Amino acid sequence: MNLVYFVIALVSAWPFLVHGQSAASIAYTPKVGKCAQGFSLVRRAGSPPHQTLSTSELEYLQARKSKVLPNAWKTYLTNVQNSKASSLPSYACNILNGHSQDMPNLGIATSGGGYRAALFGAGVLNTLDGRNSSSVQKGTGGLLQAASYLSGLSGGSWLVTSLYQANFPSMQELIFGSEAKDLSGWMTEFGIAAPTNDSTQTQLFIAELVSEIKGKHDTGFPVTFGDVWARTLARHFLTGTTEANFFDNSSHGAGKTFSGIADLSCITSHLAPFPIITANSVSKAENTSNILTAEGDFVPLTNPMYEFNIFEMGSYDPILSAFTPMRNLGTTNSTSCVTGYDQAAFMLGTSSELFNELNTSAAALASSSIGPIIQFMNATLPQPGIELDVCRFPNPFRGVAEDTFIDSSQTVLSMVDGGEDGEVIPMQPLLVKARDLDVIFAIDAEGNSSAWADGSSMIASQNRTTFFPSAYSFPPIPQTTSEFISLKLTTQTTFFGCNTPSAPLVIYLANGGPPRNSTAPAVTNAPTTQDTFSTDLLQEILTQAGETATQGNSGSSSVDPEWPACLACAVVDRVRQRSGTARSGICASCFDRYCWAGK
Ligand SMILES: *[C@@H]1O[C@H](CO)[C@@H](O)[C@H](O)[C@H]1NC(C)=O
Ligand SMILES: *[C@@H]1O[C@H](CO)[C@@H](O)[C@H](O)[C@H]1NC(C)=O
Ligand SMILES: *[C@@H]1O[C@H](CO)[C@@H](O)[C@H](O)[C@H]1NC(C)=O
Ligand SMILES: *[C@@H]1O[C@H](CO)[C@@H](O)[C@H](O)[C@H]1NC(C)=O
Ligand SMILES: *[C@@H]1O[C@H](CO)[C@@H](O)[C@H](O)[C@H]1NC(C)=O
Ligand SMILES: *[C@@H]1O[C@H](CO)[C@@H](O)[C@H](O)[C@H]1NC(C)=O
Ligand SMILES: *[C@@H]1O[C@H](CO)[C@@H](O)[C@H](O)[C@H]1NC(C)=O
Ligand SMILES: *[C@@H]1O[C@H](CO)[C@@H](O)[C@H](O)[C@H]1NC(C)=O
Ligand SMILES: *[C@@H]1O[C@H](CO)[C@@H](O)[C@H](O)[C@H]1NC(C)=O
Ligand SMILES: *[C@@H]1O[C@H](CO)[C@@H](O)[C@H](O)[C@H]1NC(C)=O
Repeated sequence: MNLVYFVIALVSAWPFLVHGQSAASIAYTPKVGKCAQGFSLVRRAGSPPHQTLSTSELEYLQARKSKVLPNAWKTYLTNVQNSKASSLPSYACNILNGHSQDMPNLGIATSGGGYRAALFGAGVLNTLDGRNSSSVQKGTGGLLQAASYLSGLSGGSWLVTSLYQANFPSMQELIFGSEAKDLSGWMTEFGIAAPTNDSTQTQLFIAELVSEIKGKHDTGFPVTFGDVWARTLARHFLTGTTEANFFDNSSHGAGKTFSGIADLSCITSHLAPFPIITANSVSKAENTSNILTAEGDFVPLTNPMYEFNIFEMGSYDPILSAFTPMRNLGTTNSTSCVTGYDQAAFMLGTSSELFNELNTSAAALASSSIGPIIQFMNATLPQPGIELDVCRFPNPFRGVAEDTFIDSSQTVLSMVDGGEDGEVIPMQPLLVKARDLDVIFAIDAEGNSSAWADGSSMIASQNRTTFFPSAYSFPPIPQTTSEFISLKLTTQTTFFGCNTPSAPLVIYLANGGPPRNSTAPAVTNAPTTQDTFSTDLLQEILTQAGETATQGNSGSSSVDPEWPACLACAVVDRVRQRSGTARSGICASCFDRYCWAGK
């Protein structure tokens, strides 16, 4: 479904040995030390509907709610009003004016789908970014700053991780670079897997990647192809790599951790939504009858899904409902504590590690595009009997929830791409009842065979919630992709759950075709495997994603000049409903236009 092929020239011999400890290898190696006084390995999160969030997350949200959100919502309201998108009913203004006790609780989820999805997501987030004057003029800017959560998976995790480790710059700065902020931009002129056509340089490059995980291996931690993948992704999405140093042995973001994001000013000043990325797990004990049947679905919906946030890693799925401190990922007891396992690079790699899909047999894997790298790793960093096609984490949850958690007796957890169960938009963390979200802005840039989104991720999300009804609620949606497509739900933004207050309202924005009313050639359907883009093409993709996100609201070709108001109506609707006010004015007509008319 979103398989990225690792296309390397097949090589028959590896003349390059893994040499000494490079800066990257040292920085990528987790450290083991004494645990701090009072260290607690596992936090049990309770049973739904009474699960609990971590104290750190709660404190972050509370501080943001008192210090940041009142102004953020007020600024957003001003932007909507200044866009002349017809006037909002007074209830909507009262909810957004910064004085309301009950503010909307908004989450944004940005999907997988390789570089295409990372770029499409960035183009959409740009239109919601209150720091961009053209997004402000369009009347959609400011919503990003008012969101409580931002989740990403696979290609979406590349965007989210990249954005936060760079301290939440604008999308243009992140992708094209900024001298003032010391950002070099995404390295889209080099491929992720094959940055050069020169076969000798390719071999040197792969030898360098493998040498960078040698320290982790030699310290006794498991390393897999996922670590190699992490190290190549680091060159694209973590700061520290430039065109000039791309092939050299500098550190390329090694040592940057996901928990370290908590120390950056975007978090310490509570300016940014709370970031979360997700991964699926695979297990010897999984129930394979719960695997969906679309291409690329490999993981049963009933396997635990994990989330990684800046404070914790774990799962709210009731079969586990437990967390471990993110900065001590890799730790399995309360005596010796590991730090540096939660490398930002490894998070990029884990959320997008779908190479287990190539491993249908030893022969298939050996002859696949990653076969030579697997063999090289096996020869230079031997680890008898371990699975190399997944990302491996020492299991902090041994003995936890023995009756329901399929990996409670395992020493290691095996993680793969967060979309391998079919849920390619990371909705799950935003459905957790303890997070109490009113509205989810779901960005879907998953690709069917023509690289357009077809609604299948939404169907998988809904299906998954039916296995855990006490924990998650999902609004009604069509049951087939053909309905999604024929009702045009993938080409025009749709609100789901307009009259289902027991679940969050979902604003579904799919990359299902070119922007409405656009005559320019479509550029947002790059194949998932495409990993090089010219600067011009990057800009065109971002622009076109922005046009889709604003219903072509860029002047003469606007399909719906009222869109900014309609979006605001969706954002406030659950708060409206709680206060017992009837939908009215432009909000009533917007809902007629944008709500899915199904059940
Ligand atoms: C890193 O590269 C420099 C320059 O090419 C080289 O002199 C040095 O030996 C390399 N260091 C390691 C640890 O490979
Ligand atoms: C603002 O967004 C527009 C696209 O709508 C983009 O062309 C422009 O470069 C952005 N400006 C900044 C300063 O990021
Ligand atoms: C590699 O070769 C392909 C096809 O010949 C070409 O399109 C591409 O630009 C080359 N890449 C580099 C980095 O030279
Ligand atoms: C596997 O899942 C199916 C369908 O949900 C269920 O009927 C079956 O009981 C499950 N098997 C086990 C061993 O849990
Ligand atoms: C605790 O964890 C450390 C580091 O992973 C490991 O070396 C050690 O053997 C463990 N101790 C016990 C008692 O399990
Ligand atoms: C790794 O090497 C060992 C022998 O050194 C071999 O038995 C095993 O099959 C190899 N595994 C893979 C995945 O190549
Ligand atoms: C291929 O998959 C099987 C089954 O999950 C696993 O046992 C094996 O270790 C995998 N091979 C590699 C090289 O990872
Ligand atoms: C892929 O999805 C698009 C947009 O939703 C749809 O128009 C197209 O028919 C789908 N293609 C295939 C082959 O399913
Ligand atoms: C979920 O998917 C399975 C497998 O395709 C299917 O049998 C089941 O009916 C679906 N459940 C729902 C509620 O859609
Ligand atoms: C499409 O764009 C044209 C201008 O390019 C405009 O006249 C027309 O009204 C637009 N169509 C719709 C449905 O808004």
